[in-house]
Amino acid sequence: MTHPNTASHRVVGSVYSTGQSAVTNPLPKATAAETAQVLAEVEFPTIAKGPIVRRPKVVAAVERLGLEARAVTRMQTMAEKYGRGPLMLAVPGQKMATVLDPDHVHRILEESPEPFATAETLKRHALKHFEPKVSLISEGSERARRRDANEKLLDHNHPIHRMAEQFMPAVREEAAALLEEVADNDDAAGQLNYDAYFNAWFRLVNRVVLGDSYRDDMELVELMETQRKRGNFAFLRPVNTEDRAEILERISQAVDKAEPGSLAAFMKQIEAAGDTETSRDENVQQVPQWLFAFDPAGMASYRGLALLAAHQDRLDAARYQIAEEAQAEAPMLPLLRATVLESLRLWATTPMILRETTREVEFEHGVMPAGTTVLIFAPFFHRDEKNLDFAHRFAPEVWDHQRTREEWPLVPFSGGPGICPGRHLVLLLTSNFMAEIVRQRSIELTSHELEPGNLPALLDNFSLEFQLSPR
Ligand code: HEM
Repeated sequence: MTHPNTASHRVVGSVYSTGQSAVTNPLPKATAAETAQVLAEVEFPTIAKGPIVRRPKVVAAVERLGLEARAVTRMQTMAEKYGRGPLMLAVPGQKMATVLDPDHVHRILEESPEPFATAETLKRHALKHFEPKVSLISEGSERARRRDANEKLLDHNHPIHRMAEQFMPAVREEAAALLEEVADNDDAAGQLNYDAYFNAWFRLVNRVVLGDSYRDDMELVELMETQRKRGNFAFLRPVNTEDRAEILERISQAVDKAEPGSLAAFMKQIEAAGDTETSRDENVQQVPQWLFAFDPAGMASYRGLALLAAHQDRLDAARYQIAEEAQAEAPMLPLLRATVLESLRLWATTPMILRETTREVEFEHGVMPAGTTVLIFAPFFHRDEKNLDFAHRFAPEVWDHQRTREEWPLVPFSGGPGICPGRHLVLLLTSNFMAEIVRQRSIELTSHELEPGNLPALLDNFSLEFQLSPR
């Protein structure tokens, strides 16, 4: 695994400090025409698909037109011309740069939030619609304590969340209910589509986050969706403060109810123990991010089922692991976890990781100005066939290799101090939910044909369908 632009020297912030400024030593800059191409081919499809909530018709069109592959090719062209970058884009009235070098991805993520703030302007405008105090768009000491609250509540350093055993009954029951519903479908017995999967997944999410009595509370899911649709338009739409207050009020009520086995109960417990520096309002404001982010987790696991259906040997191996861990209270299921990670590598649900510089930052080839929006386009690194022999195939084994991950930016959950604190919880719930399905059913992908050595640049989850039959 080599990168043409990766010199043997790894960058450490101050090593390159030469006292130059963004004026005396500017970074390379794309021409206006190149900038327009990057915006049209890389930025636009990401925004059009819906950064906060996906627009199914656009996702289908992007899949059909192969726009995701074009975006990667465009970035490769830029890297060939400009080397390590980062490359400043010629966007009128805005400072924007795109990252071309794998070492720079590591550096920027490691050096977040200072000088690479997670609270980037566009993200702030998008998320304020439903969670203005979420850690991701907070700064300074506020960010530190809100991030800390997320880490505690989501048990972010532990592959098995401390409440995992309490979550497992909900996982099994909701998967069983889904299988029953699919089997009883009069129109198409055994046919699994995304709507049914999404609804079952969110019944589980509601139970885990808010409590069992919220199982069928699709009103909150819909309220969230409406606000997320506003978030797609960031600052172009005014905030609906009434709906936002309603969401937060409902979450706060769930924390008061503290139903056993829910994260809401865990929050109340931590508050009572004085184990967090955050107020109730701040804690509650982290939860919309969880509800929002469980949506891509559903997509990733559903696409993971497609990977398994197209790779029967891996499916057999996954079933073997499921059987091996049948007695575990909260199974680890490494292959299913790696399947979800692969689904996210191949079809990143956060394709664009955004940062904003809080001051001038020196790179080897120039200085990035303060206030620059930094774009890390994950698929450029995840699907780089020039440097990764596994770029377009299902390779769950790469997630066992610490070195591969350290050398090359495989960053579906970001990295560094801003890494997704929910990642282990996502992998725990998705892997066990998928396990219940593949343990009890054989699965056949009926809507798409996946070519194992050449997986598509985007897989439209909304139109994926399976035929499930008893094993
Ligand atoms: C497939 C599912 C998910 C993916 C791919 C994902 C990915 C990410 C990424 C890439 C970031 C960093 C974003 C940025 O820097 O702008 C992030 C942040 C975050 N994620 Fe996730 N996430 C997922 C699900 C979840 C879930 C289910 C939760 C909570 C239960 C969660 C909680 C968070 C929080 C609180 C942050 C903000 C962290 C901070 O402020 O530093 N995520 N996630």
